[in-house]
Amino acid sequence: MGPRTLLIMLSLMFCVTQGSPQLRRANDRQGQCTYTFTVPSPREGTCTEPGEAMTAIREQQRENAAVKQETDALKIRVSLLEKVVNKLLGGEAGQSTSSPQSFTDTQFELQRLKLEKDEWESQRGSLELAYSDLLKEKSSLEEEKQRLTERLEKVQQKQCPQAAETPRNRDQPIPSRQESSSTGSHGGAGRPSAVHGKGGPSELSRWGADEVGYQELKSELTALPASRMFPESHSASPSTERMGTNECGELTWIGEPTTYRKADNIAGKYGVWMRDPEPASPFTLDTIWRINTVGADIRQVFEYENLDQLVKGYPTKVYVMPRSMESNGAVVYKGSLYYIRKKSRILVKYDFKTETVAIQKELVDAGFHGKYPYSWGGYTDIDLAVDEMGLWVIYSTENAKGSIVVSKLDPKTLEVKQSWNSTIRKQSVANAFMLCGTLYTVGSYSSPTTTVNFAFDTHTGVQKQTSIPFQNLYGYASMVDYNPTEKKLYGWDNYNMVTYDVRLSKM
Ligand SMILES: *[C@@H]1O[C@H](CO)[C@@H](O)[C@H](O)[C@H]1NC(C)=O
Repeated sequence: MGPRTLLIMLSLMFCVTQGSPQLRRANDRQGQCTYTFTVPSPREGTCTEPGEAMTAIREQQRENAAVKQETDALKIRVSLLEKVVNKLLGGEAGQSTSSPQSFTDTQFELQRLKLEKDEWESQRGSLELAYSDLLKEKSSLEEEKQRLTERLEKVQQKQCPQAAETPRNRDQPIPSRQESSSTGSHGGAGRPSAVHGKGGPSELSRWGADEVGYQELKSELTALPASRMFPESHSASPSTERMGTNECGELTWIGEPTTYRKADNIAGKYGVWMRDPEPASPFTLDTIWRINTVGADIRQVFEYENLDQLVKGYPTKVYVMPRSMESNGAVVYKGSLYYIRKKSRILVKYDFKTETVAIQKELVDAGFHGKYPYSWGGYTDIDLAVDEMGLWVIYSTENAKGSIVVSKLDPKTLEVKQSWNSTIRKQSVANAFMLCGTLYTVGSYSSPTTTVNFAFDTHTGVQKQTSIPFQNLYGYASMVDYNPTEKKLYGWDNYNMVTYDVRLSKM
């Protein structure tokens, strides 16, 4: 009860008992109301101006009543809580409801409940934020879709009646829309702008954060820097001549990576991209194929008319595989995609022209889904490869005890034509590729300067350690494949699509 209340109560009492006190109200220097009253003398019969005072008094009475009600309610709640707490505290303290102990407990309980409430409120706040972010994302995606739909209609009207599900951008470049290079910005504020910068909704693919976590973990467990396996040297000479398409030789030098494109979301942290070294019509040597391979359901394959369109982020077409694939061991060869079906050792040949699965075949005994991956993990147990000799598959088996087995495949039937056992453990290397019938392995996926540290020649069965410098520019090389027509290595290094020139010795 404040001094103001007291004063008024006093004056109220006075009014009731004496009938007519004289009351004055004024503001003091602190801006508070002060009331003064005068005791009436016998000579003065009545109090003047009682109306003002009575209004203030009634106001205060109402306020007091409200405070009292609230206090009573609080008391009831506290005593209820006390009872609940005592019950919760168990039988021994059950009967007593107002001991000092239980009072303290109640206070703790109250404090705890208050904290809990604050926490819930802040959680609700962040949920609301996330929700509004999602709404923004949705609306910008819808805008994007709208824009693309309009464009598609225009293009179809103009000159492309056979193009069905995606816009061809060859003759009609979209003005000033460049793909954002921002990556991994899936936190609150960065989200809407990142969505705006994307190449289009068709480039979005589903991804699972769990899988990313798993893959990172896996790679941390098995990573082994090449420098610890073999001493690095920089003796490789870049003096050998460039080869013609049909010529073969030993790998002697790998150039610095050239970066063409950075994936725009987490789905593209790992991936595979390539050109078909022996394309089948209607595809050409320029056609680029790309798959983002982070996620639980990897099905989308992007076709780009050429490198320029890849850089700009305009796919010609998006193919959706009938079944999910696993990791980034896929290759494109003679107009078909060869990939590993999710959680299996089944190889799938998908024909791009007819858009159907041409054949599926089990790769007998091959370890899969995390049994014998490369050191970075990512379910890279089975890795397909193409070189001058044809189609290969790199894997391991129980019998081989985790050492790399390489098999030559018949691209028509997916039959294993011949197999070779190497002695290098698959999980000790970051990646592998075939070049002129020789298997090469990359030491580390993360070390900026690692080496191609091992070669196994299937012609002779001879294997040896090598030390050809290899650069991981972005610190996470998930894919390294050779293109025998271009004599280049294609790589996917931490969102970045890169290529490396190579030199071969004359045989
Ligand atoms: C490779 O090793 C496995 C297991 O030791 C063996 O069964 C198989 O015959 C070997 N293959 C070749 C081609 O040597």
